[in-house]
Amino acid sequence: MCGICGVVGHRPATPIVFEGLRRLEYRGYDSAGIATLDEGRIERRRAAGKLDNLAAVLETQPLYGTTGIGHTRWATHGAPTENNAHPHGTSRVAIVHNGIIENFETLRTELEAEGQVFETETDSETIAQMVDYYLAAGQSPREAAFATLRRLEGAYAVAMIFAGHEGLMIGARHGAPLAVGFGDGEMFLGSDSLALAPLTRRIAYLDDGDCVVITPEKAEFFDHTGEPVERKIQVTALIAGAVGKDGYRHYMEKELHEHPLVIGQTLQRMVDPATRKVVLPPLPCDLATIPRGVITACGSAYYAGMIGRYWLEEIARLPIDIDVASELRYRNPPLTPGSLGMLISQSGETADTLAALRALKAIGLPVLSVLNAEHSTMARESDLVLGTVAGPEISVASTKAFTAQLTVLACLTIAMGRARGTLDEAGEDELVTALLDLPGKAAEVFSHQADIRKMAGIVAEARDVLYLGRGSAYPVAMEGALKLKEISYIHAEAYAAGEMKHGPISLIDRTVPIVATIPSGPLFEKTLSNLQEAKARGGRLLAFTDEAGAERLSAIAEHTIALPEVHPFVTPVIQTIGVQILAYETALLKGTDVDQPRNLAKSVTVE
Ligand code: F6R
Repeated sequence: MCGICGVVGHRPATPIVFEGLRRLEYRGYDSAGIATLDEGRIERRRAAGKLDNLAAVLETQPLYGTTGIGHTRWATHGAPTENNAHPHGTSRVAIVHNGIIENFETLRTELEAEGQVFETETDSETIAQMVDYYLAAGQSPREAAFATLRRLEGAYAVAMIFAGHEGLMIGARHGAPLAVGFGDGEMFLGSDSLALAPLTRRIAYLDDGDCVVITPEKAEFFDHTGEPVERKIQVTALIAGAVGKDGYRHYMEKELHEHPLVIGQTLQRMVDPATRKVVLPPLPCDLATIPRGVITACGSAYYAGMIGRYWLEEIARLPIDIDVASELRYRNPPLTPGSLGMLISQSGETADTLAALRALKAIGLPVLSVLNAEHSTMARESDLVLGTVAGPEISVASTKAFTAQLTVLACLTIAMGRARGTLDEAGEDELVTALLDLPGKAAEVFSHQADIRKMAGIVAEARDVLYLGRGSAYPVAMEGALKLKEISYIHAEAYAAGEMKHGPISLIDRTVPIVATIPSGPLFEKTLSNLQEAKARGGRLLAFTDEAGAERLSAIAEHTIALPEVHPFVTPVIQTIGVQILAYETALLKGTDVDQPRNLAKSVTVE
């Protein structure tokens, strides 16, 4: 959500900042802009829409200077126009901001009364105008920046540069991430280590409330009280090449094809190859005795959590409360003392999930987080992190992170079952074997891509699509529906197959395709009956099943995909890959912007 990149150094700033923005564009693409200091003067170039529009502006109106900041925007306050694009500024200061300034109306009224003239509708411009006001009153950049930051309420990551102060940049974070990159005679600021990946691997993350004053030689950190503090420099494992498309048409296509790899990598981290046992790091609680678990997350990560609930309840007999983070946070549920909080997030920065983490910790629950970004805010604030080894996920729609999350949750379930005595050695071995078979089986799913494409031909013609599943196949249906909505803009709803007769069956006619996730197993017959009910009312059935279920389904479905046969425990992983490919193929037919669908952004750092 909004990307920030900045540099102070000795090389031309614009190409460095622009490349950083390219790597951050997945965070927002409503507009983009760069400001530099050209012989001490602030110069800005901005453009509505994607970065290519900014590139065109820079072609005809280049920006010079070795100190610069840039921004890709996901609009919150104010339309996504050039005028509302960041950097915001005056002749004295330019700023870029990610987050929401909640008290901006009060501050704006105050500043306007003092004679400051605003140019935009954004909350962010308030920061620039306030710094400008203090600078005009004779304060130094550091004083003006610190005085402004003390007045802001809400969430922000911000970077500022100041006219007449080459080689100076001030950054701050409160609720939105910001990282400092250490180079040789040059320093960088970025929303995440991905932005800085080709520039440096030496990164320090700001803590909440921190400010940083950066010059080409050093970074001075200050905590929320203004006291100087040290922030550890970490060496990131990211390499620049990890974020190319590798010949695929889209990041999403590349990331879909990485399912087998990330499942395998994640298993390598969690299963001891010698003993074939799941090995967890030291835990913040005793798995054998916890009374309940609380799972929370947003979007796709929440659906992964729902599958985790089926597993943990059935196999480890652990009662689970689950809710989306934005609801759990404000519902103030009476949680059982001693319960284990479990969070799931690819980015580790999602504001709703982070707020839920803090709420769980505030009532004294230990928090275990399943995270892909291991240097994220959630990673720092959790009691234990179980990492998904999915690598950078660039496509806004999540794919490979989801199956990596399922892999971790499956391993956690096995460890819990063992600790709680609900899974014996043979049972553990059976489930671990099922997991170890997964990478190969996941790769086999792609042999059905051409058939799934035919299915997509029907889906792409529809205005509405229903997804149905039972048991752990129900959250898979939800994931399929979300992915279709996100990237093809077709309305899709997922229902627990047994619920259809309680209402949504009235929607069924020839124009509403029904995508069923129906693996063979104990729930097969009941789901099949629900599909028969839909068929009897003229519904067009499209089924994801497996080899064992294919014959029965072929008799009633217009298209049946017989996904590879796997242990019932892991069918949700295989089925997920199927429905994600369907969404991708449909989006291709619709000609939408697959990697950067409209109105969305990755890493949603506002509530
Ligand atoms: C869907 C999608 C979103 C994210 C959600 C949570 O394709 O990408 O629904 O799953 O915004 O994001 P993280 O996992 O970063 O907390």
